[in-house]
Amino acid sequence: MSKLRIAVIGANGQLGTDLIKVFSKDSDIQLFPLTHKDIDIVDKNTINQVINRIKPDIVINTAAYHRVNDCETNLEKAFLINAFAQKNLAEYCSQQNSVLVYISTDYVFGLDRKKTTPYKETDSPGPLNVYGLSKLTGEYFTRYICKKYFILRSSGLFGLKGSSLKGGNFVETMLKFAHEKMNVRVVNDQFLAPTYTVDLAKQIHKLIKTDSYGIYHASALGECSWYTFAKEIFKITNTKVHLIPITSKEYYTPAKRPLYSVLGNENLKNLNLNIMPDWHIGLKNYLIEKDYI
Ligand SMILES: NC(=O)c1ccc[n+]([C@@H]2O[C@H](COP(=O)([O-])OP(=O)(O)OC[C@H]3O[C@@H](n4cnc5c(N)ncnc54)[C@H](OP(=O)(O)O)[C@@H]3O)[C@@H](O)[C@H]2O)c1
Repeated sequence: MSKLRIAVIGANGQLGTDLIKVFSKDSDIQLFPLTHKDIDIVDKNTINQVINRIKPDIVINTAAYHRVNDCETNLEKAFLINAFAQKNLAEYCSQQNSVLVYISTDYVFGLDRKKTTPYKETDSPGPLNVYGLSKLTGEYFTRYICKKYFILRSSGLFGLKGSSLKGGNFVETMLKFAHEKMNVRVVNDQFLAPTYTVDLAKQIHKLIKTDSYGIYHASALGECSWYTFAKEIFKITNTKVHLIPITSKEYYTPAKRPLYSVLGNENLKNLNLNIMPDWHIGLKNYLIEKDYI
């Protein structure tokens, strides 16, 4: 039987690195890691040249412009990378009958300021910021152009590599702050499910082996505020710090954030495919892997 040919775009990013690690353990897969040096997905000609050489059965796109605040003032760049580059990939995959995997975000939600229960895939999106809007457009291009696609919305990613664009992740930022500052102030009115990229990579691996195409919420189970998340990081690592809960109003950011963007993984659960653990487990595994505990 021939191997499944899978191209991973953003292969040296935070999620991409773990996708490569997880997928390379599967002997049924022939993997083609593509970094930004190998391919610029904004350029349609490059896509045709580079990906055509590979002729993948599946293309996984992890590339994004996801500096949420910067997206507000760089709207064109956000749409170019998060939406129009995804459109380029969708057109390629549709023509070649390849499967396209798009990694999206909980930030496609947020407009409903009264929401207190996890979002289902059937809930209407409503972004609050340019980043969410551009990713949602990327989703719609994918759905509009491709027949065979997986869109996975996840949230608050942290992985060993750290986000290349953001220069780290929330866990590392908190530990750094704790060593540098007397007081660490973290918002306590934005709720999410922080997700370890190894867990997401394993979930993607499981899902793409099926032909149950569509939209999936794929974040860790459970929920917490950023403050509670920070508190748990400090508790597990036994870090002594004065942690102060604050409100979003006290912490101005150019981009508005959802007060509640927890995803319920409903579709994965309904298909008996959900392997995402609770966020506490993901965090502990991350800290062990980093040798912090
Ligand atoms: N981080 C989060 O909290 C979070 C939450 C929910 C969803 N997501 C989504 O999850 C995905 C992965 O996030 P991540 O944290 O792994 O991001 P990341 O670490 O920044 O990785 C993105 C990768 O894409 C590459 N890239 C950027 N622009 C490109 C382009 N035009 N062509 C080809 N490659 C390009 C980057 O390479 P260079 O660094 O060399 O430019 C980098 O290797 C993104 O789609 C993001 O929207 C992230």
